[in-house]
Amino acid sequence: MTERLAADAAGIARAAALLTSGHLVAFATETVYGLGADATNAAAVAAIYEAKGRPRFNPLISHVPDADAAFRHALADARAERAAAAFWPGPLTLVLPRRDESDIAALATAGLDSLAVRVPGHPVARALLASVGRPVAAPSANLSGRLSPTRPAHVLAGLAGRIAGILESGSCTVGLESTILDLTGPRATILRPGGIAREAMEAVIGPVDLAGGSGDDVKAPGMLASHYAPVLPLRLGAAAPEADEAWLGFGPVPGATAVVRNLSPAGDLVEAAARLFDALHELDEAAIAAGLARIAVAPVPARGLGIAINDRLARAAAPRGGA
Ligand code: TXA
Ligand code: MG
Repeated sequence: MTERLAADAAGIARAAALLTSGHLVAFATETVYGLGADATNAAAVAAIYEAKGRPRFNPLISHVPDADAAFRHALADARAERAAAAFWPGPLTLVLPRRDESDIAALATAGLDSLAVRVPGHPVARALLASVGRPVAAPSANLSGRLSPTRPAHVLAGLAGRIAGILESGSCTVGLESTILDLTGPRATILRPGGIAREAMEAVIGPVDLAGGSGDDVKAPGMLASHYAPVLPLRLGAAAPEADEAWLGFGPVPGATAVVRNLSPAGDLVEAAARLFDALHELDEAAIAAGLARIAVAPVPARGLGIAINDRLARAAAPRGGA
């Protein structure tokens, strides 16, 4: 059952309570409806991918009530401060270096060391975010591969019964996703064109490049592929670890190995997704410290979130080119 909540004080309080207890709630922003989860709760973030049926772990945008909150999780330079002052709250997402001390789950950023943050302008979204008091990860509230929703009925058509609640507040005014501006490098780059035009941005921060690629799928995923890769090679679908291998398990661990992380001893795919990035990271470090040569990875079933887990493992295992 999906609770249909009115966008009044009681509805917003209920939505905030659902979010802080790890449930998914759809809510309006000025661009499109977002499917929200507590960004600091890896299992809640994993549930977003499951509800959307996303075959990949794309990094998500963390939504916060104001720029101060954004810059507690991400590092702002002068360009970020000017862009925030000019366009927040509003349809702008900034990609910035993530702060080490941020408690946003690694799954929410797909293991990247950058963070996408946005302060939406919609009053209901702002009230909700202020009430939740932590960043809310939210992709568009549609099933993977479908159009972004601009009305509650669009959200319910795809996600009714798959999410805990929806805060209903009519249609979205912009109807087009936020502009994503990457400020992690020396050249400001628009990764996804959206609600704020390049010219308007250039008037505030100077020259802005436009990344290739189009529509919903930004250039980012391919470009960032190398960031996902551990240092050690991975051997996928392994039955058991060899002497010079660490073990990334799923389900019971075969035999005795010193350097092990288990994605889910019980074989639960949501738990495995929630742990994936942290486990890879920790295991890589521990295996190098122990002088091992490879990470052997147990087979993960190719259903539900297993599809996205296997996609990420395959990318991490792929030979690395210079690009
Ligand atoms: O208007 C919007 O931005 C809506 C509302 C709900 O806020 N959200 C939205 O989220 O469009 P989503 O998940 O559909 O798109 C987020 C985009 C993805 O293309 C993702 O690759 C990119 O943001 N992204 C997120 N974090 C990133 C990062 N650290 N570096 C580069 N791109 C990132
Ligand atoms: Mg989307």
